Amino acid sequence: MTFDFDTIHPRHGTGSEKWQKYDGTNILPMWVADMDFRASPAILDALQRRVAHGIFGYARPTQDDTDAVVNALHARHGWKISPDWLVWLPGLVVGLNVTAQAFAAPGEQVLCNTPVYQPFMTAATNHGRESLAIPLALNTPARRWEIDFDAMERAVAKNPGGGRRAKLFFLCNPHNPVARVFRREELLRLGEFCLRHKLILCSDEIHCDLILDETLRHIPAGTLGGEIAANTITLMAPSKTYNIPGLATSFAIISNPKLREIFTRATRGIVAEVNALGYAACAAAYRDSEPWRQALLAYLRANRDRVAEFVARDLPAGSITIEAPHEATYLAWLNVRALNLADPAAHFEKHGVGLSGGEFFGAERGTHLRLNFGCPRATLDEGLRRIKRAVA
Ligand SMILES: Cc1ncc(COP(=O)(O)O)c(C=O)c1O
Repeated sequence: MTFDFDTIHPRHGTGSEKWQKYDGTNILPMWVADMDFRASPAILDALQRRVAHGIFGYARPTQDDTDAVVNALHARHGWKISPDWLVWLPGLVVGLNVTAQAFAAPGEQVLCNTPVYQPFMTAATNHGRESLAIPLALNTPARRWEIDFDAMERAVAKNPGGGRRAKLFFLCNPHNPVARVFRREELLRLGEFCLRHKLILCSDEIHCDLILDETLRHIPAGTLGGEIAANTITLMAPSKTYNIPGLATSFAIISNPKLREIFTRATRGIVAEVNALGYAACAAAYRDSEPWRQALLAYLRANRDRVAEFVARDLPAGSITIEAPHEATYLAWLNVRALNLADPAAHFEKHGVGLSGGEFFGAERGTHLRLNFGCPRATLDEGLRRIKRAVA
């Protein structure tokens, strides 16, 4: 079966956050992380069947919904989870905020590595916790973004009492925005670092089914075994991969019953239930949409290559650089420092393309932009033409 990712589906007037931002302008949105593709035929069928039934009472996951997740985790990542480890959530940002509130007290610290998706920092600061951002290190000879373990040790050691103010580490794997897939040795080292400093490891793996480098595999932190797994809260969702984030359906996987109880208690009365359509779409995504996902990955790989070729061939040398190979996600991290712009995102908007400014991810203003290439090729090409004009 072939799938169509080339057709441009206008999204104006559909209440799309991505497109609404630029309503009434000629700016092409390539910012927030959703794709301009329709969901898989299997998901659309499941939703249509569910809508045709016509009754939308309070929803609970069916056995089929749970099985779809459990089986996909096993088939894709070799991770055998028990269904009762699942805590359904209406979003990963909800999961990050719940985790910060449940496992760090006001004034305590939540660590993360920047640049990173902004809610990794605001989940702490929203509720009076402190966000401690330790920059990732760019290893230039290796062209690789790495966790700077020396800086992590220094950051934790700085606290009076040997790091007791730090309670949590938020990992983003695969990483948004640097598009990195962390390797087993790095994850083990991080897991051990967290154990040694008594930090709960909260691993956001929302992009884990979007690995574009065919030589790599996603390693869930929950599969690192023993004490590390028991110290881990994993957050996942079908939302990015299957382009259904507007259906607000996600889950935490927490094998340790003590951590699960603390997490669940923090959700009570505050976190909304997942909705009926979300469960239907989630099951159809994990159970029935694997051929679609494989086709999507092929399409995204070609888009990734097009962006890389464009930067290498169509722009003045060094004007924009991609600092490291793009391993996962449909979000490219572009270094624009050489353009010497005070506000690069505003400059590119003036030339008709809406990118995310690096400062949203904790990068220094003026240094980076993030480009979302999860769109039909014709849209991407138009965006790249506009970027070329903006650079010129
Ligand atoms: C790493 C990461 N976590 C979470 C989210 C958002 O998740 P949700 O829409 O489920 O709150 C995003 C969206 O871009 C993301 O990149």
